[in-house]
Amino acid sequence: MDWDTLWLNCQAATMVPGSPYGAIRDAAIAARDGRIAWVGRRHDLPPEHCAAEIVDLAGCWVTPGLIDCHTHLIFGGHRAQEFTLRLEGARYETIARAGGGILSTVEATRAASADALLRAAEARARERLAEGVTVLEIKSGYGLDVETELRMLRLARDLGERLPMTVRTTCLAAHTLPLEYSQAADDYIDLILDTILPRAIDSGLVDAVDVFCEGIAFTPVQAERILRAARDYGLAVKLHAGQLSDLGGAGLAARYGALSVDHLEHVSEADVCAMAGAGCVAVLLPGAFYSLRETQPPPVALFRKYRVPIAIASDLNPGTSPVRSLRLTLNMACTLFRLTPEEALAGATRVAARALGLQQNYGTLECGKFADLVSWDIDDPAELAYWIGGAAVMGRVRHGKLLGD
Ligand code: NIG
Ligand code: FE
Repeated sequence: MDWDTLWLNCQAATMVPGSPYGAIRDAAIAARDGRIAWVGRRHDLPPEHCAAEIVDLAGCWVTPGLIDCHTHLIFGGHRAQEFTLRLEGARYETIARAGGGILSTVEATRAASADALLRAAEARARERLAEGVTVLEIKSGYGLDVETELRMLRLARDLGERLPMTVRTTCLAAHTLPLEYSQAADDYIDLILDTILPRAIDSGLVDAVDVFCEGIAFTPVQAERILRAARDYGLAVKLHAGQLSDLGGAGLAARYGALSVDHLEHVSEADVCAMAGAGCVAVLLPGAFYSLRETQPPPVALFRKYRVPIAIASDLNPGTSPVRSLRLTLNMACTLFRLTPEEALAGATRVAARALGLQQNYGTLECGKFADLVSWDIDDPAELAYWIGGAAVMGRVRHGKLLGD
């Protein structure tokens, strides 16, 4: 057995189902060619093993790299003014209908240079990296025209090249109706289907397609046109549904075999059951729930009952979830939605990988997957959800390579 690196003297929260955190005490983990080549109890190491480098982790906990499976990381400007308005009593939907909300960020994003967008997004992505995130999903959706949607997706790809992290791109051209099409939703959907999506696909910029299905965005009938086209292209689909109201989006997404349905504060039991049947992941976004001071949490008991896998994500966006820490989201998921700390960590590792269709390569510490590891200054993996803020990362490894500061 010939390994590149062997990590010894650690506690591995492998996140493999079957035991709490899939924990292995006094573990050893080996990597070869960027992938995990062996993981288990140190005492069970094969006697003939040999590693070019041996690292003693001094007893600390190791988890898979964290995965933020729902972000709107690329955008121009910010919405601190809207935050203030909401504190004075204005409602998110009222602001959105008056041309604020998503549309104000569309204006700022169209006006920004590609360079300025990249710099701001890179700073936010580096914050994720520093807290142990190795896989990041990034949506478009603040362009809402051909040129800016393509620019956003291209920038997301650029980030994946510039930073030691895996970036998955999602085309969310159907985020809301742009002003130019305010009375012509079907014409805008034609633009997405005839131009934006085909051009983005031709340029290799799309891993998945998403739609915001909501009263202030697209109806299920409109969303279905996009899901059908995406499926015909062979692309994975996702849906923002049930954030503010239940329009039946989760059931629709299930019929299209969506990887995930995201938000889900408002969803019927029948649709949860349909999600289970279709293997959809429920991506919960406690940052948006918190920021909008929503009062109806997602039906976690139903997800558990029907065994719908639960992921959590930051939903980082300038309006409803200016959350610059995925770790903070773990805490919010427990405190606001009553997830267990183990469910929260699984939601940001194993299940998040599944929400991106990446479960073959990411999300657990198992042989054959990429060696994306984070070592933590903690005594108990529940601490990852327990602390509110603060940094606990000791070391980060991506594809078998130690990352610097
Ligand atoms: O996930 N729900 C739709 N999109 C974002 C909100 C974006 C915005 O307000 O800019 C969300 O919450
Ligand atoms: Fe979102």
